[in-house]
Amino acid sequence: MSKTVKIKQKIGNFKKTITVPGDKSLSIRWVLFASLAKGKSKAKNLLLSEDVLAAIKAVNKLGIKVNVKKKECTIFGKGIDGYQYRKDLTINAQNSGTLGRLLIGLLVNTSYPINLIGDKSLSKRDFKRVSDPLSKFGAKFKLKNNKYLPLKIYGSSDLKPIIYYENKGSAQCKSSIIFAGMRTNGITKIIAKKSRDHTELFCRHLKLPITVKKNKNYDEIKIKKVNRINNLNYNIPSDISSGAFFIVLAALSKNSELTIKNVNINPSRIGIITILKKMGVKILFKNKKNYKGEKIADIKVSSTTKIRAINCPPKLNSGAIDEFLVIFLVAAKAKGVSYFRNLNELNQKESPRLKWAEKILSNLGIKTITTKDSIKIYGNPNLNLNSNKKIIIKNYLKDHRVFMTSLIAALTFGGSWKIHDKDSIKTSFPNFMQIINELKNDKKKKYY
Ligand code: S3P
Repeated sequence: MSKTVKIKQKIGNFKKTITVPGDKSLSIRWVLFASLAKGKSKAKNLLLSEDVLAAIKAVNKLGIKVNVKKKECTIFGKGIDGYQYRKDLTINAQNSGTLGRLLIGLLVNTSYPINLIGDKSLSKRDFKRVSDPLSKFGAKFKLKNNKYLPLKIYGSSDLKPIIYYENKGSAQCKSSIIFAGMRTNGITKIIAKKSRDHTELFCRHLKLPITVKKNKNYDEIKIKKVNRINNLNYNIPSDISSGAFFIVLAALSKNSELTIKNVNINPSRIGIITILKKMGVKILFKNKKNYKGEKIADIKVSSTTKIRAINCPPKLNSGAIDEFLVIFLVAAKAKGVSYFRNLNELNQKESPRLKWAEKILSNLGIKTITTKDSIKIYGNPNLNLNSNKKIIIKNYLKDHRVFMTSLIAALTFGGSWKIHDKDSIKTSFPNFMQIINELKNDKKKKYY
């Protein structure tokens, strides 16, 4: 049974150093690359959330042995052609768009049809965006209403390279095509709008035959057939998308200071930092280093009283796409009207997030004007809810980020909140509530 969390009090001030769990995008990619590698790969600090466990179950179903321990995960890859395809195979991507979309790129050569299913939220998300380009390689698909899960993939042994224009800024689509491109004899070319580039960085680190030419707005990626992937030991850095909730909590709580250790600050992921800095939030990167192509740093945030409204440049959207809900809370406290636009992709996530942003903000008494792809937020620097103000958040398709954003709103702006479906955090951030409890001054009161 999924629990409800009640919050009736703001968090109060804190000065702390925390660590958030491993990066979800990197964890899922590591599982997939390690499953295709030859030999034993190990990962430390792998995110052990439901999305990543679904990835592990998926490769396991494809005949790859995985040993999951709290401190270290080992995958015994059998090489690029090591998946065991068999009759009547069904893979469940559960809540994970990243897993579902990346994996079918790898399954284009399956010798038996494979069913891909997902939970209620994933079954409402667009899979045509990957099945269409993957069909051009020669695989065939059957989707519910031509767009949704469950889908069936019919692989081909005669895959042809393609040229693909990725214009949504979707790393999931781009990565799916990179994976499929590894399975043809020719050169697949992708002209991709900027989005997170973890897959390309993994490929580069593994010395796979892929080139990336970075242009101002688009990247030009070329992929050739991959014959072998070497085993890959990896120490997963922390996830900025999980850190984001605490960055905002620290920025909006009085007299507070927070350091988040060892976070992946890949330039394609730090839109939230650029946006919040433009709004006047004090954020610093410390102890910067490089790790296997990724950039890592400790992030230090201080509470900020004077927050400015922002007219957010759309070129920052893809680098902050998972963080907008919580960024909107900062806009709620800003002086002036903030404007975020070209955000159609935000409605393609685990729930229609623009709608949920509007709901959370209206509960806070904040005026918004929302269109299908934009939101104007009329900030109130004195935002402070009366403790009698009752707010209930439920029926949001268990979107983990709606839960966590609502909780941060409750802890910063006050009111009396009932937030349903606490278990939603298990998909990306299972110990979220523990960290909230660590930050509280009143140690006796626990939130769960
Ligand atoms: C992800 C890409 C993004 C992001 C998702 C993770 C990835 O999705 O929202 O949480 O790991 O590639 P899109 O590619 O659909 O924008």
